[in-house]
Amino acid sequence: MAKVVFENVYKSFKKRVQEESNRNIENKSEILDSDSSSLTNQAVNVLRNINLEVKDGEFMVLVGPSGCGKSTLLRLLAGLEELTGGNVYIGDRIVNKIPPKARDIAMVFQNYALYPHLNVYDNIAFGLRRSEIGETESNLVSDWLEPALVGLTRSLPRSMRYISSREREIRKRVRYVASLLQIESLLSRLPKELSGGQKQRVALGRAIARNPQVFLMDEPLSNLDAKLRTETRAQIVQLQKQLGITTIYVTHDQTEAMTMGDRIAVMKGGEIQQIASPLEIYNQPANRFVAEFIGSPPMNFLPVELTKPLTLINPHFRLTLPEYWGEILHNQGNNKFLLGIRPQYFFLSPESSHISVKVNLVEALGSETYIQGTLSNDSDTSITASLSPDTIVSLGESINLSINLDKIHLFDADNKVAIPLDRW
Ligand SMILES: Nc1ncnc2c1ncn2[C@@H]1O[C@H](COP(=O)(O)OP(=O)(O)OP(=O)(O)O)[C@@H](O)[C@H]1O
Ligand SMILES: [Mg+2]
Repeated sequence: MAKVVFENVYKSFKKRVQEESNRNIENKSEILDSDSSSLTNQAVNVLRNINLEVKDGEFMVLVGPSGCGKSTLLRLLAGLEELTGGNVYIGDRIVNKIPPKARDIAMVFQNYALYPHLNVYDNIAFGLRRSEIGETESNLVSDWLEPALVGLTRSLPRSMRYISSREREIRKRVRYVASLLQIESLLSRLPKELSGGQKQRVALGRAIARNPQVFLMDEPLSNLDAKLRTETRAQIVQLQKQLGITTIYVTHDQTEAMTMGDRIAVMKGGEIQQIASPLEIYNQPANRFVAEFIGSPPMNFLPVELTKPLTLINPHFRLTLPEYWGEILHNQGNNKFLLGIRPQYFFLSPESSHISVKVNLVEALGSETYIQGTLSNDSDTSITASLSPDTIVSLGESINLSINLDKIHLFDADNKVAIPLDRW
């Protein structure tokens, strides 16, 4: 068990792009196909200034949209990619130049990569047989006697074969892991005889069996159906707590991030946007991106302008903020903001002075009803509200919504950074 530290980490890949082109990187990939005459290697930064400390025994979730660099960060830690800049520590040791095998890390990927010709037992035992488990000092018994006995009894029925002391250690470990994961009854099956969820547990078992210092998991549940995902999710969290192994878990699913992580690191475009506990990320998102990415359905954003003392004005509605916003807002250089409000903090209001919304879609889920629409006088500004399940609303209808003013967020309209409020 060990802490993991990324210190000012950078990673760039070489990409072949056309020289002296003013077009941006995305567009350059189009040129590649059409003209390869003046191609040159250019470094493309995929990770920038990554500073992240994962505590010993912590469950850290990396979350962010596709392509933001999550897998690359894991691969750097595993030693499968070389750093462009910065340092990576496992425990107190810098591992920048240490080969993957010597880093004492186990990785579980989205595709379980089980050996198809080996049964579950041997899949789990595979890594152990290549490790030092049960190895003793070289002596007559381990070097000569045991191999000879194994060889002599190999053709006998399974129960009569000689098992070396090392293989007995391995067997003990495989059985322990199998019982943790409740796959004892599957040990003699081949991978093709397993369901997706079972394969997933075998892959986890193989990683656990090695008893590594750090677990890395890269979207390990994305092949499972919704029910199995929820079950396996809970199981992984429970196991991690039981084993206390420092874990970094990659996902682009915000529900997974919220429910599994001790802390979450939200990434975008190769940079970390915020590192905090799930509730802190939810209640105090550092910027608009985090606010929108975490929470489902996502937060609504409405442009507003502040007039003193505390009135927010949008061409189609106005709100007066609670007093506690006074000090922080009056210290802002900008008076233009984005008002952020999560769907569940809208409620139907009898007063026509509030936010008027034209309803385009009603989704009655039973436990709540989602209303999607736009501001009645501004069809470009969309609104999603979660209302009580007994709400009766028809398509095309205009409804008046109020918002819970104690639940709003404000973001600077220019740089989209949250205005921090102490009261959360
Ligand atoms: N070997 C490589 N050579 C060049 N570019 C790469 C290489 N590996 C990754 N990239 C680029 O680096 C960026 C980050 O990739 P990465 O796989 O880390 O993203 P990710 O966050 O794991 O995405 P996903 O959620 O889709 O798995 C992407 O733009 C990708 O195209
Ligand atoms: Mg990935």
